[in-house]
Amino acid sequence: MSTPRPAAVIVLAAGEGTRMRSATPKVLHRIGGQTLVGHAIRAARASGAEHVEVVVRHERDRVVEVVSALDPALVIADQDEVKGTGRAVECGLDALPADLTGTVLVTYGDVPLLAGETLVALTAAHTESGSAVSVVTAHLADPTGYGRIVRDDTGSVARIVEHKDASDDERALTEINSGIYAFDAALLREALARVGTDNAQGEKYLTDVVAIARESGRPVRAHVVDDLWQTEGVNDRVQLAALGRELNRRVCEQHMRAGVTIVDPATTWIDVDVSIGPDTTVLPGTQLLGATTIGADAVIGPEVTLTDTEVGDGAEVTRAVAHLAVIGAGATVGPYSYLRPGTRLGAKGKIGGFVETKNADIGDGAKVPHLTYAGDVTIGEGANIGAGTIFANYDGVDKHHSTIGKHAFVGSHTVVVSPVTVADGAYVAAGSALVGDVDPGQIAVARGRQRNVDGWVERARAGTRSAAAAAAAKAAATAAAEPTEDSPTTDDPTSAVEGDHP
Ligand code: UD1
Ligand code: CA
Repeated sequence: MSTPRPAAVIVLAAGEGTRMRSATPKVLHRIGGQTLVGHAIRAARASGAEHVEVVVRHERDRVVEVVSALDPALVIADQDEVKGTGRAVECGLDALPADLTGTVLVTYGDVPLLAGETLVALTAAHTESGSAVSVVTAHLADPTGYGRIVRDDTGSVARIVEHKDASDDERALTEINSGIYAFDAALLREALARVGTDNAQGEKYLTDVVAIARESGRPVRAHVVDDLWQTEGVNDRVQLAALGRELNRRVCEQHMRAGVTIVDPATTWIDVDVSIGPDTTVLPGTQLLGATTIGADAVIGPEVTLTDTEVGDGAEVTRAVAHLAVIGAGATVGPYSYLRPGTRLGAKGKIGGFVETKNADIGDGAKVPHLTYAGDVTIGEGANIGAGTIFANYDGVDKHHSTIGKHAFVGSHTVVVSPVTVADGAYVAAGSALVGDVDPGQIAVARGRQRNVDGWVERARAGTRSAAAAAAAKAAATAAAEPTEDSPTTDDPTSAVEGDHP
């Protein structure tokens, strides 16, 4: 027998969430890179349901905009001014096909850790037992605030009583209603029509369906879960942080079980959609966000933040920030690098310390190692960009693009005033302010020629320590130039200055 699928999942998200003290609707707050309601929708989809629906009211348009973008096939239902979870579900049913039969699941938009597998198990157990209602329950040490599960003498669920309506004896019960249920669709519709608002909160309670369902003679069962996090809702920002940390712990654990080394899961934050290849190591203080993908055998961190960024196999990224960037296989980035959108670093390329890039296509094996701004530029494979090079891409009005050819060499402290093209294999002398193109094999020297003025310090800085040092150096040079018997002539002292730098 194939696993039974629910006909619909109704996700309740019409409530206000005042304890968040936020201008943002509660269900649009995020953990793990996804809105709370987004997590709920994902679990609902994973149940295999034919229809997934969200019931909205508070900040309706903002919530609808977000959920519809996330999942265009969602059914949206509007709750009217009648309050309560029962009314929310009634409005939800009204927006689904009138002839809907089978199992309807109800979940909450502010319960983000509920797993799709739990809904699959709930549906299977509910269907196989032929139940009218299956309510997901949990045993809590402190059940304050929750609806309590009241069982009869035989141990089956008799009714649910809200904390505010409960007697002292009932408040002593520790089995709580999670608010997640499976219902027979037809029974749910009929029972809700009979639920009133005569209770402490003057609301139409969904929980009242349980007692009514018992009259049908079909089983009303409790589906007890041990993993309490899955039923936990977010009411304030303290719970938001607690659930966010637990979600992250679970995500890190999944990656570790799949072959990723995470040195310090407590300081590593990984969004739910991130993928990481085997034998990659993630070092402390790292955040992998959005749709980031990391290949195998890479080393990421410490202190790296990657958002919607792709990293190839074997790459190493240290103390860097990247957003919408692509880092090629075997490439190295950092420390202290800032990769802005449109950065593409080729295989085995390098972006080094204090380098900022934006719309920069840097070819395989090309190097931008130190202190550079590279914006709106194409850099060919194997090219080398010297320390302190700035691509001046903005003239105050427009942005311009420059191209540096394959195996070209740009000397240190050059300003490339875009747009210019440096051809394959061309050189630019250090300290240039480059304003024109350079052809293959040429070197461009775009700076003032050096002019040394003899005796300037003696005249203009007479009496200073500089003047004294210069005089002493001159005297020593003169003495060294006079050969004596004891001290043979040394080499020309300038040769050491002109020799190769390391
Ligand atoms: C509800 C249950 C309670 C259970 C608890 C679990 C009822 C009457 N009580 O209580 O037994 O222990 O959840 O957390 O069902 N919502 C709407 N429309 C409304 C009211 C609520 O969509 O008119 C949504 C909220 O957005 C939220 C969910 O339903 O996602 C629960 O609402 P909430 O007010 O938190 O219910 P509780 O009083 O906590
Ligand atoms: Ca609640």
